[in-house]
Amino acid sequence: MSIRLKQAERWVLSLVIGAWLLIGAAGAAEQPQIVILATGGTIAGQQKKPGEAGYVAGQLAVKVLIDAVPELREIAQVKGEQIASIGSQDMNDQVWLKLLRRIDELGKDQTVDGIVVTHGTDTIEETAFFLDLTVATDKPVVLVGAMRPATARGADGPLNLLNAVKIAAAPESHGRGVLVTLNEEIHNAREVTKTNTTEVEAFKSPDTGPVGVFAADHLHYYHAPGGERLHFELGDRADLPRVEIVYAHANMDAGLVNASAQSGAKGVVLAGVGDGNMSQSAMDALAALAKQGTVVVRSSRVGSGWVSRNVEVDDDALGFVASQDLIPQKARILLQLALTQTSDPAKVQAMFDRPSR
Ligand code: SIN
Repeated sequence: MSIRLKQAERWVLSLVIGAWLLIGAAGAAEQPQIVILATGGTIAGQQKKPGEAGYVAGQLAVKVLIDAVPELREIAQVKGEQIASIGSQDMNDQVWLKLLRRIDELGKDQTVDGIVVTHGTDTIEETAFFLDLTVATDKPVVLVGAMRPATARGADGPLNLLNAVKIAAAPESHGRGVLVTLNEEIHNAREVTKTNTTEVEAFKSPDTGPVGVFAADHLHYYHAPGGERLHFELGDRADLPRVEIVYAHANMDAGLVNASAQSGAKGVVLAGVGDGNMSQSAMDALAALAKQGTVVVRSSRVGSGWVSRNVEVDDDALGFVASQDLIPQKARILLQLALTQTSDPAKVQAMFDRPSR
């Protein structure tokens, strides 16, 4: 069957199509431009057979993740770039520096409104904190992961990705530092930590709670952005100083402290018992390291609360730094960055005393 249109009808039809295309183009131009930098993780994980417990992280390309969430098009113009395809247990200084440099380029690009980073959940809090301390831009930078692989029944990645793009596209997200979103919550990089190995509700900010939530699909922040920012300029460094974490426990001897020094570490973070304590022999070994110029930071394995100076341990006499509210894996990152500038424990302590947000 062929449809014959009269000249006037053709005119009307071409006017309607033209107007429709113009409205579409104008709408697209008005949409925020969001770039998704993909690094791998369970959010890009694939099972051999859907429904199986086993899976491999970091299998699906960023385009597949974007195409799985058509609603993204209603919120933003989204572009994807593959930075890495790894499980986040393999995250390292080199990928961090690559991410940082790309985010800083996108920060300067006036056509870009916000940046999303897809990431494995195992070390998402570490990458977020590293970026929070180093990116120069005030544009939203949002890290997002998933607890279930993309092929799982009830995969949480698509909703988390949609929420991450909503956060990155929202003007009220500017100036809040690097954020992490999963499970309809928004956390700041300094506070957030993984607290459960398998559940979808795995992330908490134990001392402060989340900075925002999604309720009925709407983004809500509890407070206005604020706080002075601790910032490290890394220039063209190819790596970061080596810092080890030593985990304290009952019956602890000096073995791991000494091994960390032999590994070439310029700094050691103690994941101490209680408020950052350790056995006498571990303390003696750490004090000997501090005397030789290794920076020793006392943190706690407890997971929340403060490690303050000179309470149970005489930090002044032993030359130690107290981690304040930073858990060991975050204290390690701040110490790595601090060591790019100084190995004077007093100056390092001053950096730990200043909240990054
Ligand atoms: C990973 O961290 O890459 C694996 C685990 C996850 O993403 O949940």
